[in-house]
This record gives sequence, structure tokens and C-alpha cells, in this order.
Amino acid sequence: RAVHAARAAFESGPWPKMKPADRQRVLFKLGDLVLEHADELARLETLDNGKPIFESRQVDIPMVANCFHYFAGWATKLAGETLPVNPAYFNYPLREPLGVVAAIIPWNFPMIMVGWKAAPALAAGNCVIVKPAELTPLTAIRLGELALAAGVPPGVLNILPGKGSIAGEALVRHPGVDKVSFTGSTEIGRHIMKAGADTMKKLTLELGGKSPNIVFADADLDVAVKGVAAGIFYGKGEVCAAGSRLLVEASIADEFVAKLAERAQKLKPGDPLDPKTRLGALVSEKQMNTVLGYVETGTKEGAKLVAGGKRAPINGKGWFVEPTVLDQVDNAMRVAQEEIFGPVLSVIRFTDVDDAVKQANDSPFGLAAGVWTRDVKKAHAVARRLQAGTVWINMYNFYDAGMPFGGYKASGFGRDLGPECLRDYTQVKSVWVSIE
Ligand code: NAI
Ligand code: MG
Repeated sequence: RAVHAARAAFESGPWPKMKPADRQRVLFKLGDLVLEHADELARLETLDNGKPIFESRQVDIPMVANCFHYFAGWATKLAGETLPVNPAYFNYPLREPLGVVAAIIPWNFPMIMVGWKAAPALAAGNCVIVKPAELTPLTAIRLGELALAAGVPPGVLNILPGKGSIAGEALVRHPGVDKVSFTGSTEIGRHIMKAGADTMKKLTLELGGKSPNIVFADADLDVAVKGVAAGIFYGKGEVCAAGSRLLVEASIADEFVAKLAERAQKLKPGDPLDPKTRLGALVSEKQMNTVLGYVETGTKEGAKLVAGGKRAPINGKGWFVEPTVLDQVDNAMRVAQEEIFGPVLSVIRFTDVDDAVKQANDSPFGLAAGVWTRDVKKAHAVARRLQAGTVWINMYNFYDAGMPFGGYKASGFGRDLGPECLRDYTQVKSVWVSIE
């Protein structure tokens, strides 16, 4: 029924035919409504996901609004050009929407991911079906209501909660869906590629990561310690781009790890609804057990636990895990190669620039990377050599609707955000006109 509604809205509804300026106004209004309902949406997000209300309110809400405000503007700016083929012809590429886009959303950023995927798809004139993660459907449902209130016509943005194996699978196989934009595990990303092949689905896949945060000895170490800690503990480490491997130059490693461990020990999990809390609860008991299992794996492999490592229940309850630092990790260990998706940092030492780049790239993933140095040449040279879709220099975990985000290697393909993602939500028709 959702696909039927979206197809009908695309083929005979007002949305794709609407004046771009009107589409722009509606999407901009939706951005405004997100800000007007910030407290309510933030609370829903925290109840669903366990992230601190501070993050929901200060990070997630502004990002969602940013997506609708930014991509609203693109509705009127998706221009083409004329191409000089032959004076006898008039040639122009016409950029058109794909049709019906299914957005399959993970549980770590349930609301942000709707903004990342629905905002550009809608701006380009597509109709959208959002399949939220089964653990975290609340804010997507509320955003659907706000979209109607903003003037998005019925059928244009459909929210379809349900299980991945049922609702998600049905969307991936449905011939009425033109494109699947997915964020989640590499395992399900691979599965979607195969399952979508029969109906020739266009795909954007934003998958896992094991992103290196590289700290050189010439970095401002106090700034780097803060950045590296935030890079792994923000969002409880349930962040696709989490800086989960610290690559630190051997000459400063002991000093740096000591500072980092101290910082980790000071960061205590707390009630996610308390505005002072900076570390929330993991999304589920299952995720907590996976994360704690990896801590055990790491120590068995020979890593040295220098901070955290345990469950930290509050009043005997909750899926809280202490900020954890595993030192003496070798890049070949499982805790250096596999995505843990929790507040667990693996510390690996390197000797020089070549060694740092080699170990950073020695990963099946390539989502993001961080570089900390005061040497501007080194920073840019290393950024070029890293196999990663995003490189942050002397900063980490920053996002904006205007900057493309996505993976190299097994972290996927296609891009969310930025002008770049609009290519992935449109197709080009070459029109030839005889004028002689
Ligand atoms: P998942 O990849 O199974 O779930 C992500 C989304 O895909 C959810 O909406 C789910 O319902 C849907 N889905 C699941 N099976 C599907 C299918 N057969 N067809 C279509 N859609 C389907 O992730 P899961 O199992 O919740 O988490 C497992 C691990 O995946 C995590 O520990 C983490 O390592 C990774 N992950 C990575 C994310 C990222 O942002 N890169 C986000 C979520 C999980
Ligand atoms: Mg799964």
C-alpha cells in the first residue's frame, strides 16, 4: 500500500509537477517545523535510542532542520546546460527525478537519517517511503505528520515502520520502487545489492566503518585528546564514522594514552533524559552484549584494557557501557578490523607517516579518518593518501547538509548530502532537437 501510494503520488500527484519554488517553500517550512517541535522530537529520539537529550537537542535536531532548509534551496537550482554537439541540433540534458525512493534507516540516527535521505530525494521531485529501524520508529512517524502539516501532499512521504526482514525486504524487491537508499550494516548492504538486482534497483549504500584517527607527535595533544575521545564516545560509539581506531605516533603514545584513559574514566554514563548527561545507553541489550563481547575478544587477543570495559547500570538498569580504551592493539586483531559499534577505542602505534597511512588503509572499510598535526603539508598529503570518504583534519565527527558523506571500499557507494547526492536522486535524459 505504501508503494502504491507513492507511485500514484509520483505519477499523477502534484509533487513532481509542482513549481520548484513551491516545493522549496514546503520543504523549508518542514525545516522550520522541526525547529518549532525541537523539544518534543528530541525527547522522542532519546526515549527511542538512549542517546543523551543534550545530543538529541543540540546535534540531531539542528542537523535535520539543516537538511530540509539546505535541500529546499536545491529544488530551484537543479539546472542543466546546453551542449554544443552540432549547429543543426539543440542538445540539452534534462535532469529528472527517479520516481519512488525507499529510504531504509538505521537506529543510531533515526531522525537525522530521514533528513539525510528524504530531504534531497523530495527536493528533486521524488516520492519517498521511509522504513525506520524496528528499534527506533518514533521520530520518523512524527516527521511524517509534520511533513503533512508543512504541505507535503499525501502519498509523497510515506513512513512504513516494520521489520527489516519483512518491510525492508519487500521494498527492496518491489518493482514499484526505483531506488533504495540504505544506511546500516555491510552485511545487509550486500544482501540488498543482490536482492535488488532482479528489479534493477538504483542504490546508495552507506555501510560500516572502522575509521582511523591518526595522531602525529607534532599535534596539539590536548586538543587531539579531546577530539579523539569525542570521536569514539560521541553517540556512545554507535556512529558509522566513529573514530574507533586510534593510530598514535609511538614517540608520544604512552603520554597520549594516559591522558585519554583519564578522560575516558571521567566520562560517566547517565540518565539520557538528564540534560547534564554526555554518555547515554546503548540502543539494546543485544548491542550491549555485542560490544562487551568485543572487549573480551580484545583482551584475549592480547590488548590491554586501560579504561572502562564493563557494563555500568544505573540503579541496576539500562544498557550502559563504560567508555573503554584498549591499548597495545595490533591492526590485525579483530578489535582493529571489525566494527564494534560501541564506546570502545582500539589503540595502535605507528612509527612514521608511511606506517600510519599503511595501517590506516589496512581495513576492509573506508568511511572516514581523522588527522591531527600542526604540519599543514603533512595534513594534506596524508588526507590524499587515505582511502576514506571523509577526512577531518584537527577536528572529527563534523557534518553539514552541504558536504557529501559516504564510503570507499566496503563502506559503500553513492553519497548522502551535498550537491553530490542530488545526482544519486535524479537521472539524466538527453534531449536532441532538430532545428534545421
Ligand atoms: P541492520 O543493517 O540489520 O539494520 C539497518 C536497517 O536495515 C534497519 O532499518 C533494518 O530494519 C533494515 N534491514 C534489516 N534487514 C533487512 C533486509 N533483509 N532488507 C531490507 N532492510 C533490512 O543493522 P543491525 O542488525 O541493527 O545492526 C548490526 C550492526 O550493523 C551494528 O552492530 C553495526 O555494526 C552495524 N550498523 C551500522 C550502521 C551504520 O550507520 N553504518 C547503522 C546500524 C548498524
Ligand atoms: Mg541486522
